[in-house]
Amino acid sequence: MTQVPENTQVMKGTQPLKVTQPLRVTVVGTGYVGLGTAIMLAYLGHSVVGLDVDQAKVEMLRSGELPIYEPGLDQLLLDSRERIEWTTEYEAAIPDADVIFICVGTPPNPDGSPNLKYVAQAAQSVARNLNGKTQVIVNKSTVPVGTGDWVARILEEHARDYHANRYLVVSNPEFLREGTALYDSLYPDRIVLGSDRQEGIERMKALYAPLIDQSFTPPSYVPRPDGYTRPELVVTALSSAEMIKYAANAFLALKISFANEIAGLCERVGADIGEVARGIGSDQRIGPRFLSAGAGWGGSCFGKDTSALISTGLEYGYSMPILQAAIEVNTRQRSLIISKLQTHLHRLKGKRVAVLGMAFKPNTDDLRDAPAHDTIARLNELGATVVAHDPVAMPRARREWQHLQYQEASSVQEAVRGADAVIIATEWDEYRALDWNAALGGMRQRLVIDTRNILTVRPDGAVLEQIGKRQLVQAEAQVPEVRFSDGVLVAPASGADPLLSSAGTTL
Ligand SMILES: NC(=O)c1ccc[n+]([C@@H]2O[C@H](COP(=O)([O-])OP(=O)(O)OC[C@H]3O[C@@H](n4cnc5c(N)ncnc54)[C@H](O)[C@@H]3O)[C@@H](O)[C@H]2O)c1
Repeated sequence: MTQVPENTQVMKGTQPLKVTQPLRVTVVGTGYVGLGTAIMLAYLGHSVVGLDVDQAKVEMLRSGELPIYEPGLDQLLLDSRERIEWTTEYEAAIPDADVIFICVGTPPNPDGSPNLKYVAQAAQSVARNLNGKTQVIVNKSTVPVGTGDWVARILEEHARDYHANRYLVVSNPEFLREGTALYDSLYPDRIVLGSDRQEGIERMKALYAPLIDQSFTPPSYVPRPDGYTRPELVVTALSSAEMIKYAANAFLALKISFANEIAGLCERVGADIGEVARGIGSDQRIGPRFLSAGAGWGGSCFGKDTSALISTGLEYGYSMPILQAAIEVNTRQRSLIISKLQTHLHRLKGKRVAVLGMAFKPNTDDLRDAPAHDTIARLNELGATVVAHDPVAMPRARREWQHLQYQEASSVQEAVRGADAVIIATEWDEYRALDWNAALGGMRQRLVIDTRNILTVRPDGAVLEQIGKRQLVQAEAQVPEVRFSDGVLVAPASGADPLLSSAGTTL
């Protein structure tokens, strides 16, 4: 017999699940994942407390400001503000909660294993404030297989009145992408729930009922996509859910590395990675997403999660050569940017280089493991002067990249003025839409290293380097452009601009 949470009614069978009373939810850790989760659950009608140890963050949130940039999240917060509050105090947030999410960071240790100290601290603080009624503790942080059991053990050791049947641990990995977090949270492909305790699963189903049924009213600024019906609900053992998150990220990372490896060969044999990706991505067994060649993956997850998986394998004496190779290809890809620059400018000492885009991808201010970071660091080592621009991430970079030397530019035009080269490091729409002929007017030399393959026409008089693009024999050749939108191939429009790209040739 499964247990239905005390304050919730669930209709079973073919009937849609309906929450007749909201649950009380506490989200521990209000970073990129915790904030999105907390605000989304409040929007769905639950009563939410967001808890963080960072006092400044909590104060910002209390005053209605967001500490991160995520499109639409400010509006969703405004629409949900009556059902959400913010605190730093576990004593205030834990005892009454029906569901407690742990969303703290799990950054990599120097050896690649995930640092679980924040999870441990959060679990201990939660444990000390559990109240003896049935409560579900959900690991949403990405954690190695076995962490759910370890958290259960922490609860057992630190809860004042521990009772195994009362504290149910569930793994509910997060798959949102920064930049499209609202869309991913409201219309997910799947919801994964892993637990060895059925009561925990049932409460999570009740919590997510509005998502599972899609019974909520979509916000006008994140409409439900045509044809979307509901997410797949994947209920698994605790350990499988933990593995699913790592395996999903590892697979996506290796898909990108595969595209980059093929792109390198494309440059050598005169093929075009855009055309090749379209040709292979339209095979449904392969799929079109995550086949963009570029500067390699970045962000807070792929590098950390691939390393964590390898390190878990090592604990068991099990090697993971495919993943290892994906990481090596990614590292090589980063250094390609500087090599392309050196091909044309040779010695970089004293050269002025504009870097456009600092965030690891567009529509976020997240700088973790951003390719632009490594590029600027290497340019610093080689003695180049760097001028950097990003539409949203510059204030964060001012705080987090103090170890790098660069000048800030308030516009693309300012960044490229007097520059010997410009590197497009992040594919912001603002850069895609730019009149590049006009923008490059003030450059000393018109060398463009487009590491995101966003340019569809070579700017007048420029040397254009892209990644894995075909070297055209004739500048006037008409080649339909293949574009990616958020990692998805977009079919070429008829009469598309001619693709004028090269791998090292002035056209
Ligand atoms: N960022 C993503 O796109 C993404 C996507 C899926 C999964 N994840 C995973 O989700 C987890 C969180 O990632 P994030 O990007 O949101 O991290 P983050 O660094 O942005 O946020 C973590 C937050 O936890 C807070 N915190 C740390 N210790 C705490 C404690 N003891 N009590 C309360 N708060 C505490 C920090 O102050 C911070 O605000 C990680 O495991 C990550 O791998 C991230």
